[in-house]
Amino acid sequence: MTEIIFHYTGLSPTAFFTIVALMVVTYEVICGMFVSPHDFVPIKTQPPLHLGDITEEDLWAYNGSDSQKPLLMAIKGHIYDVSTSKMFYGPGGSYAMFAGRDASRALAQLSFKPEDINGNLEGLSDAELEILQDWEDKFMEKYARVGQLVPKKTLTENKVGENGCRIEEVPKATKTDMLRESTSVEESGIQKDIHL
Ligand code: HEM
Repeated sequence: MTEIIFHYTGLSPTAFFTIVALMVVTYEVICGMFVSPHDFVPIKTQPPLHLGDITEEDLWAYNGSDSQKPLLMAIKGHIYDVSTSKMFYGPGGSYAMFAGRDASRALAQLSFKPEDINGNLEGLSDAELEILQDWEDKFMEKYARVGQLVPKKTLTENKVGENGCRIEEVPKATKTDMLRESTSVEESGIQKDIHL
């Protein structure tokens, strides 16, 4: 073996194996600098979420406590998928308290008080409504809208009339609902028929 190596390479076995080892190491280092096709793992793309009409109670399920569910947040009853900003709205995030909620009032008043984290627009000043509008514009631009909040009754109370036709009972709108509706109709031309 020693003679064969010396015969073909003119090197001692020690020098020969040292050079081979160095070549292998160099090869591995250089290969490591490039991405191999095997390194590409297909990214699992989530199908686009579409929730339609849901209640505030249902929205709560998307507050980040279940990592399998997207993070959702609502402004003026319009629900946005904010999963891409997990650092803001996910567990431990600065704005995690808004996830799974309609945060309109808190955003309008720039408040983090738990009692302000709701969709009640009653009594907000023009300036606050303007701030809220800015937030809504930001969210419409940045996040996908996946549904809208409706009062519980809208989903549950459908009755069959005397002639067999299905009649939808229009729930008595609360002041909050009415405010929410009128604001969304006035302010968002695209979403005009959402709650109507
Ligand atoms: C000391 C005051 C505050 C500072 C320094 C601050 C700072 C920031 C910064 C740096 C961002 C990231 C902006 C971006 O990358 O787009 C942000 C995002 C945000 N802030 Fe604040 N913030 C403050 C107060 C507030 C208040 C009072 C609210 C509402 C009650 C608020 C709600 C939000 C929300 C919702 C986002 C995320 C917006 C998104 O989803 O893109 N912040 N804030």
